[in-house]
Amino acid sequence: MQKISFALKKKGKKIGVVPTMGYLHEGHLSLIRIAQKYSDIVILTLFINPTQFAAHEDLNRYPQDIPGDLKKCKKAGVDYVFSPKISKMYPKNFETYVETTQISLPLCGGSRPGHFRGVTTIVSKLFLITQPTVAVLGKKDFQQLAVIKRMGADLNFPIRIIGAPIVRDKDGLALSSRNVYLTLEERKNAVGISSALFWIRNQIKSGETRIAILMSHLKNKLFSCGLRLDYAECLHSENLTPLTHYQKGKTLFAVACFVGKTRLIDNIVV
Ligand code: PAJ
Repeated sequence: MQKISFALKKKGKKIGVVPTMGYLHEGHLSLIRIAQKYSDIVILTLFINPTQFAAHEDLNRYPQDIPGDLKKCKKAGVDYVFSPKISKMYPKNFETYVETTQISLPLCGGSRPGHFRGVTTIVSKLFLITQPTVAVLGKKDFQQLAVIKRMGADLNFPIRIIGAPIVRDKDGLALSSRNVYLTLEERKNAVGISSALFWIRNQIKSGETRIAILMSHLKNKLFSCGLRLDYAECLHSENLTPLTHYQKGKTLFAVACFVGKTRLIDNIVV
């Protein structure tokens, strides 16, 4: 893949990369379309990265459909799919990791220790292999996007990191490969996450900007939908530090909930 990328660059082609773990849905496909706007060649990487999963997490049951994914990529006009084996990415003597030290602490970093270290390590490797000019990542994983932007700036990666809007089902639930785990009943409850976040946005529009009040309503709403809260936080959308006062356009509400055994995340910036 790296040889191909260098050859493409020599020919003056701009490469756009879309890193994924596969089981592609409309959210992933929207990233491909954005990458196509900003580059000549789009590489989609498809790799279920073991270093970003903790031992008790869903690595071994993470959904997979490589033939289906390849069909979707072909239809979407992806130029290359890079889907390496685990042993190629992490050979026996592998010992080098990339880590952000602050921005990875709150939110998912708090409840999934080591997760972002796995993400920044694999994304660095994927960037060095695919040699992109632009990389497109979804705002669905808001902290992941912030972590990768921080890493790119700190380590001088010559790559423009583009954040893409969250793609949702008709009822509001953010698309996720993990939605496939949900039973019918759980799927009904899961919509409570986006409804609660949209409700917050409306409250702010109608003038309620007291964070403590908004957060207490948000938590109650999630609880009343039968969702078990992992976290619900209000942070500054640029540096992910806690916010005590509403800041127009920069107030991030981020939620992680367990719906049955499935952990789902969602967020809005108001
Ligand atoms: P994965 O969960 O497959 O997501 C791949 C990309 O798709 C991420 O940038 C994610 O934010 C984006 N995405 C997922 N659901 C979305 C939605 N509903 N709307 C918009 N974008 C969405 O995130 C990962 O994989 C991995 O951590 C990875 C970055 C590939 C590193 O292993």
